[in-house]
Parts: sequence; structure tokens; C-alpha cells
Amino acid sequence: MTAPKKLFIKTYGCQMNVYDSERMAESLGGQGYVETQTAEEADMILLNTCHIREKAAEKVYSELGRLKALKTENPDLKIGVTGCVAQAEGEEIMRRQPAVDLVVGPQSYHRLPQMEARVRAGQTALDTDFPEEDKFETLKGRTKAARAPSAFLTVQEGCDKFCAFCVVPYTRGAEASRPVTRILDEARELVDRGVRELTLLGQNVNAYHGAGPDGAEHSLAQLIWALNDIDGLERIRFTTSHPNDMTDDLIEAHGSCDKLMPYLHLPVQSGSDHILKRMNRSHTAESYLRVIERIRAARPDILMSGDFIVGFPEETEEDFQATLDLIENVRYGYAYSFKYSTRPGTPAAERAQVDADVADARLQRIQALITRQQQEIQDTMVGRDLHVLVEKPGRNPGQMVGKSEYLHAVHIENSDAAVGDIVPVRITEAKRNSLAAIRRN
Ligand code: SAH
Ligand code: SF4
Ligand code: F3S
Repeated sequence: MTAPKKLFIKTYGCQMNVYDSERMAESLGGQGYVETQTAEEADMILLNTCHIREKAAEKVYSELGRLKALKTENPDLKIGVTGCVAQAEGEEIMRRQPAVDLVVGPQSYHRLPQMEARVRAGQTALDTDFPEEDKFETLKGRTKAARAPSAFLTVQEGCDKFCAFCVVPYTRGAEASRPVTRILDEARELVDRGVRELTLLGQNVNAYHGAGPDGAEHSLAQLIWALNDIDGLERIRFTTSHPNDMTDDLIEAHGSCDKLMPYLHLPVQSGSDHILKRMNRSHTAESYLRVIERIRAARPDILMSGDFIVGFPEETEEDFQATLDLIENVRYGYAYSFKYSTRPGTPAAERAQVDADVADARLQRIQALITRQQQEIQDTMVGRDLHVLVEKPGRNPGQMVGKSEYLHAVHIENSDAAVGDIVPVRITEAKRNSLAAIRRN
């Protein structure tokens, strides 16, 4: 018997890449690969890449430069680039780094086994098509126990919104939703393997419109209600949503669906209507605030999270101030802010850019505000009785770590809870990036 070949996957970017990396590992499992955690002992290395900002994309080339050296020690080593950089740059990657054997974009992952055979035969393999066949069906091959009690499940992929700064519509392609029954089957399989929390993924997840069992289109809210009936599944989340797709039924579900967690990531990007228009966001600051008001009316304790871009072309001090005002107004439990990064091929790349020092200074100001707000909201959790889904043992003896309903990391001291348990706790302290808790009975 020959020893199994070893596969090392390094994942960059968003949660969908995490989901995709797991599917690719399973698919190559069928080709005799087992996963390893070290690049040095791998026979196949895949970098599952992100193209969202320049820094993310450039990281890939420096990593490839390092990994190339491993080929001298292991002549059988094959190196592949997958994900959004693969889609955006295609064969240019092999030109820039000839040590790369394989390049495959997100819509062609189901073709990975054939591509692997090709590179094993000493050829290179490139696939950045947007094929018609059902990638998810062919990628199926879940055999292992779940890695954790919380899992991702892609329900929708791609985006038709074309925000002026964003590469996603080009790297992930047109918006497409998976059929309801396939998602329910995958969810049940995950639950059978010990998963208790599902995060439904999509670049535009609330635009979900998959075919239901009766052939009629289902909204995300209808899908969530169907998932709500699965015994053993305890928590449902979804990300990432667009403000314009927060439909009435989805807002209502936040008030009435008991498994839907009180946390919503709803990026707005800017608080200035002029900038929002130039970003092609098709909502205003006011319409965004109105949506949040309605969500809070349905679920008053919901924790809001968002994304912001600072230094978008033409952003003035006044525009930036409007963003800070919006943040003050919303009060985010979490928020992520990024300095605008010029992406080749996107409309905003052609416009007059904001001075880099000005953008840096704005990033610092927005991050200071967000950090303060996050801390204030974390502080309000002290004394509250919450439930934690236990994910792993902590660093101290007897300590277990998990997530609250609001997605805060919680350390439970002196706990006999097991991974996968959902335990009642009382929050005793708010630390910088987590909460401390004791178990209640
Ligand atoms: N699907 C997600 C977007 C994924 S990108 C959504 O629609 O929200 C995650 C975040 O990266 C975006 O919300 C945006 O804030 C940021 N981002 C996207 N393109 C960027 C760019 N060119 N420069 C800086 N940040 C960017
Ligand atoms: Fe990108 Fe999100 Fe805009 Fe789509 S909606 S273009 S994924 S930022
Ligand atoms: Fe990055 Fe692609 Fe996700 S660009 S954020 S890996 S969709």
C-alpha cells in the first residue's frame, strides 16, 4: 500500500473561502489525499486566495516565493492557486510565478480531481470558467466528523450589485442561489455529524432566491424557517447582507424565529449620500438607518455589525464626518473598517484618489470610534444571563471557550461543559476581546 499523499491548504479572505477549502479537501480526499497542517510535508499545496484589497492579493505572491523553495526538497510537490486571485489573474499567476502548477477559480472547484491528475502527469492546469454544471452537487463528499459544533454552509454565491470599489462580481460571478432541498440535506448531514450552529453564507446572502421543493422561489427568510424545523440544529446565522435586500419577511423572522440569533452584519460602507451614490450602493444613509430601526423594532436586543471604507475617491472631510455620525447613531457591536484599495478593472479605480496620509488618518479615527463603541457594548453584557455554544477548551485548566448569542467570545471558568454543549452562563467581566463568565444552573 502506498502512503497517502498530503495536502496543505492555506486559506485567505472571507468565510466562503473557509467553506470552499473544506470542500476542496474532501474532493481531493477522493484522490487519496489527507490533510496536513505543515507546508513542508505536503505533496500538494493550495493557496485559497482573496482579491478584495491589494494587500490581500500581493500576500499570495510573497507566499508563493517562499513555497517555491520546497520544490527542491520534494520534487513531487505541486503548488496550486485557488480562490479570487486565481479567478482575477488566471494564467498571469503562472507567468509571474512559474512554480505554480495549477490555477482554478471558485466556480470550477468540482473539476479539481481532473486537474490534479493533469498536474501529476507533469502538465499545468488552468480553469477560470463559469461553467453551467452544478458545482455543489459534484463537490459533495462529506464523510468526516464535523470539525466544530459551528459550521458554514454556502447557500448563495456571486453578486450582481457592482459596487464601484468591489471585485466580487468579477471573481465570484453572477448571483446564484442553491435549491432549498440541497441546502436542507447538507444541513441535516452536518447536524448528524454534531453541528449545532449554521452560518448561511453568500456574498449577498439576503438576496437568496433558491428554488423550493414546489419549484417556487424561496426567500432567505423562508429558507431559515425551513432550517428552523431541523431537530438538533440550535442556532442559525447568515452573512453577508445588503441593506436593500432586508425584506419584510427577513426582518420579521428576527423577531419570531427562535433559532435565528440576534446578530446582523449589515455593511453600509459610508454615511455620506454623495459617496454612497458614487459607490453605486443604491441606498442612502437615511434608508439604511430606517432598515435598522425596523430590525430593532422586531428584535430590540439585536447586535449590529458593519463594514466601512474610508478614503474612497472624492471623500471629503465632511463625507467622512457623516460616516462617523452614522456610526454614533447606530452603535455597532462590531464593525470592520478598511482603507480604500484601488482594484484594477473596477469603476472607482479610474477616479481621483484621496491622499494616502489623509486616508490613513481617517482610518485611525474611525477605528478609535469603533473600538470605543465595541467596548461600551461589551461592557453592557456584564451581569447578563446568556447562553454559550462551547467550541473548545480554553488556556486555563477547566476553562471552556465558546460564543454567546451575540457572537461575543466567552470564556467560562471552571466549567465541566463539553464541546458542542449550549450552556447557560452569567457574564462576570468584559475584557478587551472577550467576556468572562460563570456557569449558571
Ligand atoms: N460580500 C460582502 C463584501 C465582501 S468584501 C458584502 O457585500 O458586504 C468585505 C468588505 O470589504 C466590504 O464590505 C467592504 O467594506 C470591503 N471592501 C471591498 N472592496 C474594497 C476595496 N476595494 N477597498 C477597501 N475595502 C474594500
Ligand atoms: Fe461587493 Fe458586496 Fe457590493 Fe456585491 S454588494 S459588489 S459583494 S460590496
Ligand atoms: Fe476575498 Fe473573494 Fe471572499 S475576494 S472576500 S475571498 S469573495
